[in-house]
This record gives sequence, structure tokens and C-alpha cells, in this order.
Amino acid sequence: MSADNLRHLRDLCDRSVEIIRANQHDSGAYVACPSFPVYRYCWFRDGAFIADAMSRIGEYESAEAFFDWCSRVLVSRSSVIGSVIARAREGEEVADTELLPCRYRLDGDDDDEPWTNFQLDGYGTWLWALSEHLRRSGRSTSSLWRSAAGLTVDYLSAFWSRPCYDWWEEHGDKRHVGTLGAIVGGLEAIAREDFVDDEHRRVAQTAAAAARDEVLRLGVQDGHLCKWYGTNAVDASLLSCIIPFRLVEPEEPIAQATLAAVETDLVSVGVHRYLADTYYGGGEWLLLSAFLGWQQLSFGRAKDAATQLSWIAAQAEPNGYLPEQVAGHLLAADREAEWIASSGPVASPLLWSHAMFITLAAELGIVPESAPDRPRFQA
Ligand code: BGC
Repeated sequence: MSADNLRHLRDLCDRSVEIIRANQHDSGAYVACPSFPVYRYCWFRDGAFIADAMSRIGEYESAEAFFDWCSRVLVSRSSVIGSVIARAREGEEVADTELLPCRYRLDGDDDDEPWTNFQLDGYGTWLWALSEHLRRSGRSTSSLWRSAAGLTVDYLSAFWSRPCYDWWEEHGDKRHVGTLGAIVGGLEAIAREDFVDDEHRRVAQTAAAAARDEVLRLGVQDGHLCKWYGTNAVDASLLSCIIPFRLVEPEEPIAQATLAAVETDLVSVGVHRYLADTYYGGGEWLLLSAFLGWQQLSFGRAKDAATQLSWIAAQAEPNGYLPEQVAGHLLAADREAEWIASSGPVASPLLWSHAMFITLAAELGIVPESAPDRPRFQA
């Protein structure tokens, strides 16, 4: 890679950090996208990957402000969480609408707009991001984080086997393997930490083992992981079941077959979510290209990973904003216009795109991990 290219990628990382910082609310919440009305909220899913990227490059205060926000959201709902768990244990009917939502207002309040709210993956992802942060930073934990992590373990172990909306907020009647990957990854990561008590570690391990067993029985067809139980289609969210969530290890044939199926079905140059995607015409998602590069790297394919990183960088707008998706190779070109007409242009900047760009750049060693005193981008 030329020195110019390298400099360009590093500048875009600095710019990404700046954009993320500028869009972190005083509460610690990260807005998914400041200019796209239905994304002016904080998601556990997006936020956890953003916090992980910030922690990775030494922006510890930012990551910890987000973990504080998550913890306040959870602890302030502890009686609701306790009551739905108790009712479910008694065999009582608990409606999806009584369970935790996927997104909140930036101040941590519930949002009143209708949304496909019952999604479980974000709660696994935040546990994973928190434990990664603790491991890499060696910083001490707060009792608030401990309580919130314990509540999340209780919540996920009670509800992991329930159908819910997926990473893309669709198909709430299905069991999604990408969702289960995040749950397993989060529960196992927290079970390795001694900052939750032994009982929570045991509960987390038991639920994660049951979820993994179930996925390996019901979520595999043609040798690869599948989008949901009962289909042989793939979804790019499955990549996360290898790295970082390790539902399957890279050496396992299932991981290799899953990567191969995603690369065959969903890669133009960037990565599509799934073949039947029609949202904004089904473009290539920048954050998924970063997930692909991350896997390729763990399979020893650094050159392919660097190609994904450069492709993401090439999608940046002149001001450095990274959008959610781009329209170079649409899967359903006839569906793009209706989305632009109803919702405006594609969301940009999408903080999760910036976060995944940083993550892949750090994994490739293009920016150093955990360097709190690195020079800041000057606007
Ligand atoms: C995506 C979600 C994401 C949300 C906010 C949705 O369109 O499907 O994965 O959490 O946008 O970025």
C-alpha cells in the first residue's frame, strides 16, 4: 500500500473518531445517524460496536460514557426486567411489547414511535463490548456496570430462545442465527470476566451453551450457518458469528463454509445484507464490508481485507462522511426510488459505518490500537 493511501486511510480514521465524538450526546448515547429522522436514536447494537471501536483506539472516556448510558437504561428498568422474567418463569404470557426495545431516545427514555422493537442481539453485543473494553484497558469496573451486566445476563438467559426481529429489524417471527451469535458472544464474553458474580457467570455459560447447541442443530444447512432456522439462505450478519462472537471458530468447517456462502451470494465489491433485500434497492453496506474484511483477516487473507478497507474509504463523501450503504450494485434497482421519495437520501454519516471502518483499520494495524494520546484530526 502506498504512503499516500496509508495517509488517506489514517486521516479517514481520525475523521471518523471526530464524527463519532461530535455525535455522542452528553448522556453518553451515540446517535445512529444525526440527519436521518428515524435514526436519531441510540441503539444498543450500533452503540456497542461504536463503543468497541472507540475503546480499541484508546478513546476510553467515550466508550465508558456509552457503557454508563447502557447501564443507566438497564438499571432504571430493573423492576420491569425482574417482573417479565418472573412472569415468563411462571409460564405467564409476556408480550413482545413488554420486553426491552432495541432503541431509546438519547436521554435514555423510551420512544413512543411505533418500531420493530423486540430485538435481542444488541443486549448481547453490549456485554461483549464491555468485556472487551475491560480486558484491553485493564480499567476498573463500576458497580453500575456490574449491576447492568447481571441484569442483562438474567434477561438474555430468560428470553434468548424467543423469536425476535433481526439485525435489520425484520421478520420478528423467526429465530435468527445472527441474533443468536451476538447473544452467545456476549454471554460467553461476560462469563469469562470475574466482574459479574459466580452465579451470573454460571447462568451466562449455561444459556450460551444451550443457544450454541441449538444453532448447530437447527441453524446449519449445506454445511453453513443460515439466516434463520428453516432456510438455507445466508445473511451477512452471520459473519459476526465467526469474528467477533465466535459461535463457531474460524478453523471450523462451518465457519469456512459460511464465509464462502456469504462471499458467493452477497459480495459485489462491497457486501449486501441478504439477497432479497429491497431497502433503498438493496445496496452494499459499508459496515458489512468491514465485517467481511475482519473475517478475511482471521483467515489469513490480509490483502483481501485491505481491499475491503480501501473500498469503504472510497465511498466517503468529500467531508469524510460514511453512508450506511451505496448504490453501485443494487439487488433491486427498481425499489430504490420509492425509498428516496419516502425517506430522503441514504443515512449519512452512519456512526456504525465509521466504527467498523476504524475497527478494520485497527485490526489491519493501519491505526494503532489503544493509543489515548494519538494526534487528533483538525477540522
Ligand atoms: C438497520 C439496523 C440499524 C439501524 C440504525 C437500520 O436500518 O437495519 O441494523 O441498527 O438502521 O442504524
